[in-house]
Amino acid sequence: MWYRRDVIAAREFTRADLEELFEVAKYMERYARSRVDFLRGKVMALAFFEPSTRTRLSFETAMRRLGGDVIGFWGAEGTSVEKGETFADTIRTLDAYADVIVVRHAHEGAAKLAAEIAENPVINGGDGSSNHPTQAMLDAYVMWREFGAVDGLNIGLVGDLRHARTVNSLLEALTNFNVKVRLICPEFLRPRAEVLDYVQSRGLKVSFHTSIDEVIGDLDVIYVVRIQRERFLDPLEYERAKGSYRITLETLKRAKRSLIILHPLPRVDEIDHRIDATPHARYFKQAELGVPLRMSLLYLILTSG
Ligand code: NCD
Repeated sequence: MWYRRDVIAAREFTRADLEELFEVAKYMERYARSRVDFLRGKVMALAFFEPSTRTRLSFETAMRRLGGDVIGFWGAEGTSVEKGETFADTIRTLDAYADVIVVRHAHEGAAKLAAEIAENPVINGGDGSSNHPTQAMLDAYVMWREFGAVDGLNIGLVGDLRHARTVNSLLEALTNFNVKVRLICPEFLRPRAEVLDYVQSRGLKVSFHTSIDEVIGDLDVIYVVRIQRERFLDPLEYERAKGSYRITLETLKRAKRSLIILHPLPRVDEIDHRIDATPHARYFKQAELGVPLRMSLLYLILTSG
């Protein structure tokens, strides 16, 4: 199901795909801090035209832990892009050197375009405000690991739900499960209509809220995202969004004991640092599980099973 497949958007993946990915990721956890030779001789190219810490480094760690090699660039500095080389020519070249290409780009559709150009599989490491499928796979994996199943969970998404590509992709991935989703944000930061229409047409149950306090008592998971400053076209709108929500120890007073807090990171100021020491915080664990999850993904895409 996965062999030589492009990973462009979360909506392309079924429940069976995700369950296979999760089972293999769980198996890969035992190798996430050592090394095996499952992908010896394979090369992954990173084409990161936009900043990244976790996505890039967890892909790189995953490939190295599996015995494969990594080439590529982050930021176009030092590459021929500075000389005016086109995106298409850069991708065509990486395709000649590597077995799989991970692309991150500020423009929506960049990964899809790369997939049309490259013969080898392309993985979207985040493009514009639209998609970040491997982050969504990771987020659902953390829920699956923590609770033993994704079905039945009550999940609150908090923050800039309009511009965060992780939110769009997570909503799409969650349509494969029987969950309740609470969207918590000011009205102007609600997900785009096309995203909402799609997930609702797939039967995802969503409700809208402007305050965390309204729903905190029922939640199993809070998923927080930062205000995506670089995606706002209007600086005044950014000023309006800034500081419109923040999770503090006070917010958690009425939370279930088992509530977990996730965040794709980077965090700016939307989660009080004092929360890090509470049993609810899982965002660093989530970043850590990015390695076995991406080991699983690379393994499934690069081996015929
Ligand atoms: C996110 C991204 O780049 O979309 N980070 C990540 O990949 N873990 C989230 C963000 O930038 O807010």
